[in-house]
Amino acid sequence: MNDATLLAQPSPPRYLMCRPQYFAVTYSINPWMDPKAWAGSSAVLHATAVRQWAGLHSALLGNGASIELIDPEPGLPDLVFTANAAVVLDRKVLLACFLHAERQREQPALLAGFRALQARGLIDEIGEMPEGVALEGAGDCIWDRNRGLFWLGNGFRSQPAARAVIERQFGVPCLPLVLADPSFYHLDTCFCALPSGDVIYYPAAFTPAALECIHQHVAPAQRIALDRHDASRFAANAVCLGDRVVMSSCSTTLRRSLEERGLKVVNAPLDAFLRSGGSACCLTLRLDHLSGRAMTPALAMTNATRVGAEADS
Ligand code: ARG
Repeated sequence: MNDATLLAQPSPPRYLMCRPQYFAVTYSINPWMDPKAWAGSSAVLHATAVRQWAGLHSALLGNGASIELIDPEPGLPDLVFTANAAVVLDRKVLLACFLHAERQREQPALLAGFRALQARGLIDEIGEMPEGVALEGAGDCIWDRNRGLFWLGNGFRSQPAARAVIERQFGVPCLPLVLADPSFYHLDTCFCALPSGDVIYYPAAFTPAALECIHQHVAPAQRIALDRHDASRFAANAVCLGDRVVMSSCSTTLRRSLEERGLKVVNAPLDAFLRSGGSACCLTLRLDHLSGRAMTPALAMTNATRVGAEADS
């Protein structure tokens, strides 16, 4: 491979994951979590989780991703859900501030993990939320590359006040969507913005106002609405790698609808994690999303103007 070829290679999408060594359901902070049921067959369930996580890890690697790992820690069973660790854009990190005490215990481990990534030159800045404003990372704050904005889930975990912090930290607009169904408590459990501009979503998970906001910004042809069946197996909780959509499982109808759009579904079964209210997207955090605002001075100017105008509207 000569230098020119090397330069032409786009760098592989980079994700953060955490091995499920200490994954378990030991408390309940969403309707999926049943510690008693977990305890009843914890050895089998843990072994399944380890195998399924490895399946997702290799599906991502096999489809061109590069993966960084943070160290698992005993007593932090949900650390495996790295989507909640932070919001990351343009090499800047905004660390999560969890709503529940059970997950607040993850915050020191996450800070240490991001400092290690910073020391390796993979990110530039680490910001923290103001005291008492909950923001549960990319699980609730989804980057929509096509529209140049964040979608923010409110109502169960992340708080409305997080919106201004996100806009200040990243200089891009952030559209709040209020969630209405406790089983879909993080935005990424019921909403996925594909790089193509298509959006997978479960309409019943949103308030009427949130649904109207989605419909205002997403044209009818770009809406992929899930039924309860696909929503309940967390088909919206997908990882998009180019034209590949990696998810735990889905109906033939959803698979066909994605195929008609030129996308290919890759299944990586993750039902052991559904017992904690999580799936593919929850187990990953994209580290290299770029807003495009800093590409060239001329482009940055155009984008800055556009972003400013959108943020005001
Ligand atoms: N048990 C975890 C919780 O309730 C699951 C988190 C799933 N993560 C996600 N990004 N939806 O917080």
